[in-house]
Amino acid sequence: MKVLVAYASAHGSTRGIAERIAAGLTAGGHEATAAAIDRDGAIAGGVAAFDAVVLGSAIHNSRWLPEADAFARANAAALRDRRTWLFSVLTVGNSSAALGRPFAWLVRRLSVPGNLATLRATLRPAGIRRFAGVISAEDMGRVGAAFVRFTGGSCGDHRDWRDIDAWAASIARALGPGSAAAA
Ligand SMILES: Cc1cc2nc3c(=O)[nH]c(=O)nc-3n(C[C@H](O)[C@H](O)[C@H](O)COP(=O)(O)O)c2cc1C
Repeated sequence: MKVLVAYASAHGSTRGIAERIAAGLTAGGHEATAAAIDRDGAIAGGVAAFDAVVLGSAIHNSRWLPEADAFARANAAALRDRRTWLFSVLTVGNSSAALGRPFAWLVRRLSVPGNLATLRATLRPAGIRRFAGVISAEDMGRVGAAFVRFTGGSCGDHRDWRDIDAWAASIARALGPGSAAAA
């Protein structure tokens, strides 16, 4: 299967996750391409050439980045026609978090990143996952970094590569046997 891993990343940690997912899909026998969404919400070449899409964005101020949102809206019909998976990169992922435990627990249970409820309804994705990203005091600003510390958490790289690899492998399996698996 030809799989597009489209992503919006402000400071690079979502890009790293998207590239890792693409590598995992390739290892699973598919032909995966990681592509950055540009400021207009487009990717070079568009989605037409792909059989399936993994779409991810960093979360800023509780929402996907505007270009990821624009990409999802502009390509909604094409994404509904293909199997599509969504991921968000923020302070609290499914398996790791920059915030202290009680806060991470609350965020996992209570918060749905701003536009994800709409995306879920319009795109009907095959799966959704959250990953913790790189939390930088410089990028988040003093107040954001102080909040992270207040919760008992810490800035730094909180990406859980095992979880990311496991998710990529589950998508590779869901897409069926690729050439590596069939060989
Ligand atoms: C300006 C700004 C706003 C952010 N807002 C949120 C937020 O609302 N919720 C959250 O969990 N993380 C928030 N974060 C943390 C980012 O989601 C996290 O650093 C992520 O790894 C960024 O991905 P990127 O490196 O691909 O840009 C924010 C970060 C920045 C710089």
